[in-house]
Amino acid sequence: MAQNIAVIRGDGIGPEIVEQALLVLNRVAERFGHEFTYTDVDMGGNAIDKWGDPLPQEMLQRCLDSDSVLLGAVGGPKWNDVPGPMRPEKGLLRLRAGMGVYSNNRPAKIWPQLASASPLKQEIVDKGIDFLIVRELIGGIYFGKHETVTENGEKVAIDELRYSEEEIRRIGRIGFETARKRGKRLCSVEKSNVLDSSRLWKKVMHELAAEYPDVALSDMLVDNCAMQIVRDPSQFDVIVTENMFGDILSDEASMITGSIGMIPSSSLGQTSRGLYEPIHGSAPDIAGKDVANPIGTILAAAMMLRYSFDMEKEADAIESAVSQVLDAGYRTRDILPADPTGCTLVGCQEMGRRIIENL
Ligand code: IPM
Ligand code: MG
Repeated sequence: MAQNIAVIRGDGIGPEIVEQALLVLNRVAERFGHEFTYTDVDMGGNAIDKWGDPLPQEMLQRCLDSDSVLLGAVGGPKWNDVPGPMRPEKGLLRLRAGMGVYSNNRPAKIWPQLASASPLKQEIVDKGIDFLIVRELIGGIYFGKHETVTENGEKVAIDELRYSEEEIRRIGRIGFETARKRGKRLCSVEKSNVLDSSRLWKKVMHELAAEYPDVALSDMLVDNCAMQIVRDPSQFDVIVTENMFGDILSDEASMITGSIGMIPSSSLGQTSRGLYEPIHGSAPDIAGKDVANPIGTILAAAMMLRYSFDMEKEADAIESAVSQVLDAGYRTRDILPADPTGCTLVGCQEMGRRIIENL
């Protein structure tokens, strides 16, 4: 099958981790008889430097013309002082909105080989960590009006948080559908003791529940959820939540699985064209040193094969190659245990090469 993939290498460690993911995809194409072609897209800090815009229209168009988009990471201290609307991250937000990918799927699953890398006590880890955060991605406070005004001689900054019933309903459905395919438990996370948007969120989730009698819906306040994720993560199956809560909780959830460097994500909307990226950032402090962990991006490429291209066995092959490399003890720095006996420290390129060897 021929597929055109828009590739955003991005900033910081982005180019080096994406490179490894592309080598993995090439190997998959060779082994399974597919043809993947790649279209380079500038987005983020590098696009600001080159075009004066974190996502020029022409670059968004390349993504919309592709079958799917693979992204490394964007941003870095170099662009800290550029004004809000021109920040590298704004390119990412415009890309998500431009592609209409409202549903962001972030798995938190512990790899048995990395159980000792989790900061949680062994007895908590042993109960199992395998849940998924469904994060609303193109609404809420990220996309409300942002402004800084002057009142009584001082600056006042305002960020608006709004959600319509329809925006909540469409992500709610994804939450229920996802839970239906897993353990049939959906936890809706909000702050309904304080926010109107959360009260509307909760109301819509309960309306939807009538359509999914086979799924058990529960509600949880976001502060409590942050606590429960470290107290007893085994209680969760699928969490559905709004944009900013999902951003924060998914970083927390990734950490308890050992390393944020291991977690991929998929973002989908109404079509099969998705945006696939690791959930970590551009890590400018380690960029260009060949120490970054490419596994999050490689697993994001696997998700792309599974969810956008319907290539289930190809995705399985990548995931099992990753598992075999972990079994063999290869570790990038971020997943090297305190006692590294039996492990071999490898860089970004070697990690990629080892995974390809197992494909
Ligand atoms: C993420 C990131 C982004 C977000 C940033 C880079 C805008 O933290 O994908 O979680 O907040 O959505
Ligand atoms: Mg984040």
